[in-house]
Amino acid sequence: MLIRKPPTIPGSEITPPAVYAGRRDFVRALAIGLGSASLGLAHAAPSPDAKSGPFAKLLSSPLSARDETLTPYKSMTTYGNFYEFGPDKDSPAKNAHRLRTRPWSVTVDGEVKTAKTFGIDDILSWAALEERIYRLRCVEGWSAVVPWVGFSFSELLKRVEPTGNAKYVEFWSLADPEQMPYVRIPLLDWPYVEALRMDEARHPLTMLAVGMYGEVMPKQNGAPIRLVVPWKYGFKSAKSIVRIRFVEKQPQTAWMKAGPDEYGFYSNVNPDVPHRRWSQASERRLGDFLKRKTLPFNGYADQVAGLYAGMDLRKNF
Ligand code: MTE
Repeated sequence: MLIRKPPTIPGSEITPPAVYAGRRDFVRALAIGLGSASLGLAHAAPSPDAKSGPFAKLLSSPLSARDETLTPYKSMTTYGNFYEFGPDKDSPAKNAHRLRTRPWSVTVDGEVKTAKTFGIDDILSWAALEERIYRLRCVEGWSAVVPWVGFSFSELLKRVEPTGNAKYVEFWSLADPEQMPYVRIPLLDWPYVEALRMDEARHPLTMLAVGMYGEVMPKQNGAPIRLVVPWKYGFKSAKSIVRIRFVEKQPQTAWMKAGPDEYGFYSNVNPDVPHRRWSQASERRLGDFLKRKTLPFNGYADQVAGLYAGMDLRKNF
């Protein structure tokens, strides 16, 4: 039987180094049973500005944050979180090559008139693909600016009929221990499940992304399809989605189960509400030396603050 590890979204920038090192040793010790799990080869990165790939003709989106400097492709593909592939920032780049992204399908069920399963190539033909430059703010204090490729989640809503009971929508990531070695370890209550309220899901900024930097989505960033919700902490954006389920009651997400007093359902970026163990007032862009102030709703307040009118955002963190 596996021993349950204390819940946390840890990061070397946040967690005291000794604690962080201890955690890595703990996980590594558990991982010995996984054979060559952490011996994967690093992802071979295409040129960051190559727009010659399958997404050469992308619509540029009016929703893009145009005044921002893009985070280098290399930083976005070598530093990140994808706990199914390991707990370190470089684990996804080392291990995600094991993920098989074809064939791939996404099942849509729960509170819908008819449950449906869509093949990834069908999904890709739903709408013209757009490039959307979004700010990304991780709960751990780092941030980035990423040109995602994809379309609004509302394109899915046009193809399924949620019932009147559908008040929330869950996003389930793949949890296959054959491809994702750390799913054998209870770092989280797998599968990774995130969720949005229906009006948040319907908001035009909420995106299903299938690529970034003009390229097909790298495996470590959530291929072949992931969610991007730019006004929320990065962990709301579930990767490698296989199931989308409409439900009536507010769901328990994987991180809420792991740390109920640390990770709330809403997780809107909010500099005024500290995480239980650290401040959220500032952030460091990947590649920058100096920190910058974190903006309410990650700079998207004009577009989304209205969704939360009248709500106590300290209580609904
Ligand atoms: N999705 C899954 N399935 N597993 C994860 O561990 N990590 C989240 C989110 N989605 C995660 C996930 C977190 S904490 C962040 S910050 C973002 O993915 C980071 O990925 P990105 O840098 O590619 O956006």
